[in-house]
Amino acid sequence: MMVLDRQRMDPALYRDAMSRYAGHVQLVTTALGKERRGVTITAACSVSDSPATVLICLNNSNEKNDIFFNSGIFALNTLGADHQSLADAFSGKTQLTTDERFASGKFETLVTGAPVLSDALAAFDCRVIEIKQASTHNIIFGEVMGVRYSEPKPALLYMNRGYHAL
Ligand SMILES: Cc1cc2nc3c(=O)[nH]c(=O)nc-3n(C[C@H](O)[C@H](O)[C@H](O)COP(=O)(O)O)c2cc1C
Repeated sequence: MMVLDRQRMDPALYRDAMSRYAGHVQLVTTALGKERRGVTITAACSVSDSPATVLICLNNSNEKNDIFFNSGIFALNTLGADHQSLADAFSGKTQLTTDERFASGKFETLVTGAPVLSDALAAFDCRVIEIKQASTHNIIFGEVMGVRYSEPKPALLYMNRGYHAL
């Protein structure tokens, strides 16, 4: 018997197509004990307003992301155009230590204890309600326990493999 394999989309072709997709840049943060971590992401969205729920997608092959899968909390910090250097710091582009990365912004805590960026366009302080593995990434669902938002200001988008202000 011959079994035909499903045709696989070429990852490079997929990434080329995705480069036309504008994503709002987010800084997702967490803390466990004395440890903190933040990662620049675009894979995040709202799921529901009742109960207020968001989701984020994080690479599960990077061991440094394990803290997100164990801490039970995260903050989704929506970045403004003035946060581009922060986005660079937390994407590993500049070889900074975790403390140096966090020193690039002002952080505080709201409800859960996850680091919240004080001047984020919006910040969603979440407790993890579900983690689903999807191949290379884990989808983390968070119930929003606290929010804060700033006066309207330009947003930081990522499109055509570069940052843009909207
Ligand atoms: C614009 C942009 C969007 C990104 N989106 C994601 C994402 O949605 N999920 C993810 O796991 N990593 C994403 N990354 C990659 C992480 O930021 C990066 O792998 C991580 O911070 C590695 O840094 P490290 O040196 O701390 O390991 C993105 C990076 C950039 C620059």
